Amino acid sequence: MKYIENIIKNLRKKIKLYEYFYNVLNVSLVSDYEYDILLKKLLKLEKKFSEYDSDISPTKQIGNNFSEEFKLRNHILPMLSLESVYKISNFYNFYNFIKKKINNDNLKFCCELKIDGVALNVLYKDKLLVHALTRGNGYSGENVTSNISVIKNLPKKLLGKNVPKVLEVRGEVFILKSDFLNLNKNLHNNFKKSFSNTRNIVSGILRRKKKSYIFNEKLFFIVYGVGFVHPNNYFKSHYFMLNKLRSFGFNISKYNNFCKKKCNVISFFKRSLLMKNKIDFDIDGIVIKLDSINLQKKIGYTNKFPKWAIAIKFNTKNILTKILNINFKVGRTGIITPVAKLFPINFSGVIVKNVSLYNKDNIKKLKINIGSYVLVKRSGNVIPKIVKVIYNKNCKNLKKIFFPKICPCCKSNLVLNKNKKLYVCMNGVFCNSQKKKLILHFFSKNGFNVIGIGPKTIEMLINKKMINTPLDMFKLSKKKLFSIKHFKKKTFVNIFNKLKKIKNIYFYNFLYALGIPEIGISVSKNISKKFNSIEEFLCCIRNNNFNKIVNIGIVISKNIYNFFIINNNVKYVLELSKTIKIIF
Ligand code: IVH
Repeated sequence: MKYIENIIKNLRKKIKLYEYFYNVLNVSLVSDYEYDILLKKLLKLEKKFSEYDSDISPTKQIGNNFSEEFKLRNHILPMLSLESVYKISNFYNFYNFIKKKINNDNLKFCCELKIDGVALNVLYKDKLLVHALTRGNGYSGENVTSNISVIKNLPKKLLGKNVPKVLEVRGEVFILKSDFLNLNKNLHNNFKKSFSNTRNIVSGILRRKKKSYIFNEKLFFIVYGVGFVHPNNYFKSHYFMLNKLRSFGFNISKYNNFCKKKCNVISFFKRSLLMKNKIDFDIDGIVIKLDSINLQKKIGYTNKFPKWAIAIKFNTKNILTKILNINFKVGRTGIITPVAKLFPINFSGVIVKNVSLYNKDNIKKLKINIGSYVLVKRSGNVIPKIVKVIYNKNCKNLKKIFFPKICPCCKSNLVLNKNKKLYVCMNGVFCNSQKKKLILHFFSKNGFNVIGIGPKTIEMLINKKMINTPLDMFKLSKKKLFSIKHFKKKTFVNIFNKLKKIKNIYFYNFLYALGIPEIGISVSKNISKKFNSIEEFLCCIRNNNFNKIVNIGIVISKNIYNFFIINNNVKYVLELSKTIKIIF
């Protein structure tokens, strides 16, 4: 029997050593799988030979009740949120509010990065982890204790002497940006749906019902505060509390900053903004906390957030990524636009894979190459754009971007436009790419407004040589359409019926639908007010009176003039006007 006792003792020793390295030193000596096998072996032996069972066995000490369900548990103290503002100047209001409240101008702050992850509340009693709860509704959260092994640096047992008897530790669980990109790349390569942001992955992994070895050890935990502490007056300063927590075995952010002056806070914000794209985890702002815990208690709380802390959020997002390739797109009006294919990046849930480089001068000005690392900016819902190329040691094998001399679609020679910034394909509707976009534009909402005529349908009809102009769409017969193999009959019947229903159209929608450069719907409306028939409109252009009658800019009137001096265009417009009545 001594033999069994020794096996059990050795197993415990081994497991404890692995745990120490894993939980405290962040080093995995064995894989999760091997660790689990050892633990199960120990459990089995302890069950079988209960005389050797012990309360200090690792099978008892780690929240080892791997429950399948994530039951709600109460936080001892509620997990509050933070008041968020978007301008650093708001810090002065916050400062003055505290100064007035405590009648003291000698305020010290602990400034931290606001990590964009999932909040976790971990309870320790007598140094041992009791449970780990998500924030939930602030008062109770999901008990995810059974899943904490996926977090690389969450101690299950605290280190050091004089550790508070009861301690609720709060922090953020997150995943590295580089891991996120790799995971999504793998999912994409295996034709699986990728995650839209790092937070989704984290909460997905934390709430995983089945044990899995995928994505394990990808989660990190950084501590930013405490909840309930017994004894109550254990900590005096927030900044020093974080350092103390580090000595207990937690990871704290190396960017935490003790600020004795207002100007230190401002420069921390500025530094963080610059740092944001260099560090390998997502941050969405900074958190400024009054340092003295005694004063924190004096200032107090609303029922939503502490009045002694504030989050200053970054309102623009710059994300670092890499240019994988360049495509040249032919626009509706023949302008060739270079579009960079990016390593996908995530702006608060919006995945950006492509970004326009506008023109050759922009590429030159920013010194963009294929393979360059670039900062992409997106403020609110504005279209993302490249703001800067970042040089780093990975910038090898850069490939220069060469603008094509011929149209990537119809292969006709490109010409530089007047201001020599843009390359243009002059092949008009004879270029399939322009044709496709013109037809799409024609049936778009402000034009003929036919829902259901999408790029794929148009491309197919063009490829089958069934249409060349939007007018041809009205001439399509059911018989012709149904002769196409592999088509969805219902889609075509729908489109066919919709086209048949169009009997008339307002002139401004008609003019817009023609797709003349710079003629948007409001310009179109302005022009349409001056005319009573299509003949009157054409006559005015022919007599070169357009500028006198319609008060619009030279560029726009020139574009109109250039369109209508082409005989084929006039013929096309007149034929259209016979097919569909234009209302003036
Ligand atoms: S302090 C009572 N500090 O931001 C104080 N929160 O919008 C509450 N967060 O739910 C939190 N980094 O999950 C604090 N350095 C930091 C933080 C941080 C990220 C998260 C936290 C909280 C949310 C509030």
